[in-house]
Amino acid sequence: MSRPEVVVHRDGDLLAAATAARLVTSLVDAQTARGSASLVLTGGRTGIAVLENLRDTPARDAVDWTRVDLYWGDERFLPSGHPDRNETQARAALLDHVPVPVSRVHVMEPSDGRFGDDPDAAADAYAEVLAAAVRPDDHGSVPSFDVCLLGVGEEGHVASIFPDSPAVREGGRSVVGVRDCPKPPPTRVSLTLPAIRAAREVWLMTTGTAKADAVALALTGTAETDLPAAGALGRHRTLWLLDPTAAAKAPSVA
Ligand code: 6PG
Repeated sequence: MSRPEVVVHRDGDLLAAATAARLVTSLVDAQTARGSASLVLTGGRTGIAVLENLRDTPARDAVDWTRVDLYWGDERFLPSGHPDRNETQARAALLDHVPVPVSRVHVMEPSDGRFGDDPDAAADAYAEVLAAAVRPDDHGSVPSFDVCLLGVGEEGHVASIFPDSPAVREGGRSVVGVRDCPKPPPTRVSLTLPAIRAAREVWLMTTGTAKADAVALALTGTAETDLPAAGALGRHRTLWLLDPTAAAKAPSVA
């Protein structure tokens, strides 16, 4: 696993624009090296702002969107089309504006989908989607995503993996149903830390004073059961993309 690197951008708007530019480069590089690119999307303000920037930059056309596979790190378990679903927000921010084939948009099931109100069945189904996408040169039961985007919560959650929860202790499954989340809505579906760690690159993006303690603790080796962000590492690269307020207490930049 890679050691975390920290990049501090002057403010949240610049962070979103610079991360969108970084994504263009990474997706183009992946397509050049392997023919297609895979990207894991996140919910939350910062993640959606990055997608909006990607939509609005002319450089987005450097990516061949017909050869991009999109996955989600987590989903809020709500009915299809609900405005709070991460899928709905990602579609409005980017996916409705780029020609990604329907077959390459790998959504997590909604709460009115094939499995009804059963997040565990939705999680198992998503684990099968991931397993089916594994290539011969990947390791394990999920694809080696090129980039996994993650937001970070005030208490250090990533995706829907919260501190001291069953999800953070999951060592076997790649996707789990999550209940009683402190951040609404309470029911979610999430990749686990082992699935996140299959990614070549993990980018953790966050802004604001409220995140400064979580950032500092993650970068000083806190146990992942207490602070899940500490366990979100990429195989080749782990990048923390911050604004100055979120970075204020981080050891390498303070
Ligand atoms: C979600 C997320 C979650 C989010 C963080 C950060 O669906 O809610 O995927 O993990 O990324 O809570 O959210 P903000 O960027 O809005 O602070």
